[in-house]
Amino acid sequence: QELKLSLEQIEKGGYEHFMLKEIFEQPKSIHDTMRGRLLVEEGIIKMAGIWDHVERFKNANRIIIIACGTSWHAGLIGEYLIEEYARIPVEVEYASEFRYRNPIITDKDVVIAISQSGETADTMAALKLAKEKGAFIYGICNVVDSSIARITDAGSYTHAGPEIGVASTKAFTAQLTILTLIAFKLGKHNGNLGNADFMSLISELDAIPKKIEEVLNTTHELVQNIAKDFINATNFLYLGRGYNYPAALEGALKLKEISYIHAEGYPAAEMKHGPIALIDENMPIVIIAPKKGHYDKIVSNVQEIKARKGKVIAVVNKGDQQVSAMADYVIEIPETSECFSPIVASVPLQLLAYYIAVYRGANVDQPRNLAKSVTVE
Ligand code: G6P
Repeated sequence: QELKLSLEQIEKGGYEHFMLKEIFEQPKSIHDTMRGRLLVEEGIIKMAGIWDHVERFKNANRIIIIACGTSWHAGLIGEYLIEEYARIPVEVEYASEFRYRNPIITDKDVVIAISQSGETADTMAALKLAKEKGAFIYGICNVVDSSIARITDAGSYTHAGPEIGVASTKAFTAQLTILTLIAFKLGKHNGNLGNADFMSLISELDAIPKKIEEVLNTTHELVQNIAKDFINATNFLYLGRGYNYPAALEGALKLKEISYIHAEGYPAAEMKHGPIALIDENMPIVIIAPKKGHYDKIVSNVQEIKARKGKVIAVVNKGDQQVSAMADYVIEIPETSECFSPIVASVPLQLLAYYIAVYRGANVDQPRNLAKSVTVE
């Protein structure tokens, strides 16, 4: 029998969709993003783009991160990372808002644009504006030689490889990897991150690809089964605190984009200011509750949800007891320092969105009305 394989099938490498392939590529894409940069034994992070301009960063009044979509979510996590480890004030803005609101920008500001494609029109326009006002502009792009990569004064590529699925997965975790490296490097340089902490954080970062691999192996089937129970859901709430608040936003965005189920991400504590009114037995709530990350507070949020009969899907650390005892579905991930938890927690949430969309018969790789690269306003 003749073996007929289309080029696309070959490119998908045996996976049904590019998105699933890209989710599974993350141990490698994160590793590739760190390769040559994270030198654990020598105890250094090598990033020429940062190092060549380190005084600009060190003396910056503030760092402004601009981006759209998933890249904006990475930016929010970047704010937590850079403020915690380098103690430089950070603001994160949607490029589309920034460019039209006559923002205050000076030559003491550093503006970081995050963009998978490097072509997003709003991000590009916001960068041009920042450049005109004398800011130092830095790019975190995945596509080499893209427009944003070319216009910026310096930058770091995420080496995630081509991302074909419209919903961003491996580019997002690669962006988080770069932001982590930047935060640690700046923190070490300006003295806010002591050597012992630096050493232990970088060796933990080095082990993240292995942890992602473990998460893929241990949660893939489980998440597939959970997804089956939610194919008819009409709404979803995603909650997290601290570093995992943006991870909740991203989890919700993934579901919206590809399954067309309405989903909202919220900081867990804000639930009482609105979303709690929506909770009943028909409301699925994904809650990201790792041990290191305001765990006790999350426990009480889960109690509030269960008192209203919400269906809880909890992402917790291995061996978790309190949240797991209350949750309807439990997804276990390995324990990490809080700053790495969004990278690890995002993986099962990508899988959940993927399988719900697949079971609903949606076109996962090319969702309706969405484009991979938005080059118009
Ligand atoms: C589009 C894509 C999203 C992406 C956003 C920003 O909306 O569908 O996946 O996050 O643009 O794109 P960028 O290439 O700038 O990261």
